[in-house]
Amino acid sequence: MPEIILKNVTKRFGKSVAVDNLNLTIPTRSFITLLGPSGCGKTTTLRMIAGLETPTEGEIIIDGKTVFSSEKGVNVPPNKRDVGFLFQNYALWPHMTVYQNIAFGLENLKWDKKRIRQRIDELLAMLKIEEYEKRYPSELSGGQQQRVAIARTLAPNPKVLFMDEPLSNLDAKLRTEMRTELKRLHIDTDSTFVYVTHDQLEAMTLSTKVCLMEKGLLQQYASPLEMYLRPANLFVADFMGSPTMNFLKATAKKTGDCTCEVSFCGLTRTFTGSKPLGDVPEQVTLGVRPEFMTIRPDGPVKASVYSTLPAGMETTVKLRLGGEIVTSVIFGSVDYPIDSEVSLDFCGSDMLLYSTESGALIADGSL
Ligand SMILES: Nc1ncnc2c1ncn2[C@@H]1O[C@H](COP(=O)(O)OP(=O)(O)O)[C@@H](O)[C@H]1O
Ligand SMILES: [Mg+2]
Repeated sequence: MPEIILKNVTKRFGKSVAVDNLNLTIPTRSFITLLGPSGCGKTTTLRMIAGLETPTEGEIIIDGKTVFSSEKGVNVPPNKRDVGFLFQNYALWPHMTVYQNIAFGLENLKWDKKRIRQRIDELLAMLKIEEYEKRYPSELSGGQQQRVAIARTLAPNPKVLFMDEPLSNLDAKLRTEMRTELKRLHIDTDSTFVYVTHDQLEAMTLSTKVCLMEKGLLQQYASPLEMYLRPANLFVADFMGSPTMNFLKATAKKTGDCTCEVSFCGLTRTFTGSKPLGDVPEQVTLGVRPEFMTIRPDGPVKASVYSTLPAGMETTVKLRLGGEIVTSVIFGSVDYPIDSEVSLDFCGSDMLLYSTESGALIADGSL
């Protein structure tokens, strides 16, 4: 089973850099998402691994075999890379039935009729579309069409499956359902998934590891939980999590190996890092997830309610704090009147300290 390695991979289109010196190791059987805002280089990265786009520089190794090297002049064509694709526009052939759509690729690979029948039966069962075998795409819902497209991609048993925003054309409910299915499919097929999305929730919930990019540059490559708890810089911190993290302006003074005094919103507290702090600049940004921004009667900081958004299971409260709007999320349904005054506290073990100037994470720790 293939492990995929990218070494110093760069892609330029004319003068603009789409992917900038990317180094990435995709372990066997992992579910990796390439995540980031539109135009950050996700699709280009995927296409380069697949062989549909030629990198300007670098090396790509799949399963121990160099499939691309600018230095050695190697460029293995896509059909020799043993990979499958599922793109955003998963056009099925309209004049072919579900069965024919799935069989087409296998016939091209010269599979015999019996083997094709067997494989398609397996796939139809796996994707729960047995009863649609004889239908045409126009007789299927969007979700069913998507399942057929997945079956078609999985048919020849690719060891690596590439998916470029495959759920973006589906409605919200179906998207959630398909996420569940994809996660099961990953285990059932025992293959490596490389998945492109701009949706951080999709990346968080699906993947074993997330590769977050911005402007062609890798920002962080880590497990979803690591990324959520210890975002490597302010960009990652802002991108991961919804509602987004609060960033409070603060000043810091180092007081010990793992501790510093942090002043913000008129408070001074001791920040204790989970590991030694290194250099701490004076200007810092304190990152507080909305769930750790607590509203309580004896909280030391006053804020006023900007708006309250109860969603049933939790309530998002937007607050005016100094000149800024901050966000608190409370479990359960609460309705604070607009402009009422509340008291806030920031405490817990999941606080983040960033350098305001460089945006780099100084440490995670507790307040
Ligand atoms: N064929 C191309 N020619 C010129 N520029 C391109 C081409 N494909 C992509 N780009 C540029 O490269 C950057 C990354 O694009 P892409 O990988 O499609 O981003 P994403 O998939 O993250 O939205 C963008 O700025 C895009 O405009
Ligand atoms: Mg794209």
